[in-house]
Amino acid sequence: MEYVHYSVMAEEVLHYLVPPADQQAILVDCTCGEGGHTHRFLSTYPDLSVIGLDRDASILEKAKRRMEAFDGRFTPFKVTFDAFFKDTGQQLYDLILFDLGISSYHYEESGRGFSFRKEEVLDMRLDTTDPISAMDVVNGYQEQRLADLIYTYGEERYSRRIARAIVEARKLTKIKESDQLAQIIYKAVPPAYRYGHLHPATKTFQAIRIEVNGELDRIEVALGGAIKALKRGGRIGVISFHSLEDRIVKWFFKAQDPALITILTKKPIIPSDEERAENPASRSAKLRVIEKL
Ligand SMILES: C[S@@+](CC[C@H](N)C(=O)[O-])C[C@H]1O[C@@H](n2cnc3c(N)ncnc32)[C@H](O)[C@@H]1O
Repeated sequence: MEYVHYSVMAEEVLHYLVPPADQQAILVDCTCGEGGHTHRFLSTYPDLSVIGLDRDASILEKAKRRMEAFDGRFTPFKVTFDAFFKDTGQQLYDLILFDLGISSYHYEESGRGFSFRKEEVLDMRLDTTDPISAMDVVNGYQEQRLADLIYTYGEERYSRRIARAIVEARKLTKIKESDQLAQIIYKAVPPAYRYGHLHPATKTFQAIRIEVNGELDRIEVALGGAIKALKRGGRIGVISFHSLEDRIVKWFFKAQDPALITILTKKPIIPSDEERAENPASRSAKLRVIEKL
């Protein structure tokens, strides 16, 4: 089986999240994906067990197969990370990892329209049983609502023009595919913007994906639950991919009682020059780590 996702800052994550020696420690990998980070942990620490969460059942299947060799030390759960921590009872964990966002698997293999470079059905749901898809958002939201979400979740300066173009286009025919939407966006923006270092649809696709999956609203809830479910001396590491996520994480940790947690990364850790050269997509990643006192 092919694993397409490059696990970001794996060395740095392993450096900060070290299980206590001589104990049957448990790590919760809240965003297991194909299990790249989980695999590194299980290979490095023979006494460690990992609970792997993901809201996408199909990617979790890949992780399950990848972890077969670790003989019962990996337990997958199809659940959103915020929901998981609502219901952990008395159980406490040693280490908790969040690697926010989506996996290369989603762009390259899922067939759900995450990539503007593909001709796929415009779906973008991480959990395909969720009620609202990208097609519903793009064809159903009013122009102002579309413009606002493209601006807020995409930080897209041409949000109004793009929202207007979407509304005009859907009057003629339903917008059903990712490349169809990409073309509408491409034509809506000024010519100079079409040839920048980012494809002009990048930010709008990000915004729609965040809206469809309610991505940002879940982070604070999950971090609060994760701190409660952490053992004393335990650590939480969070990798974010864009400023919207990182801002939430940074301010959430800053707002905590300093008697409860200490922030180990006064400045966020960023990928090394080697990693950025090897995996340019990692360039915006930031890792923040806290320890429970
Ligand atoms: C960046 S990928 C993780 C990659 C993984 N660390 C690796 O090394 O292979 C993020 C994963 O988190 C999942 N995800 C996103 N939001 C989630 C949520 N609220 N709850 C659970 N899983 C989520 C996505 O489906 C995706 O598989």
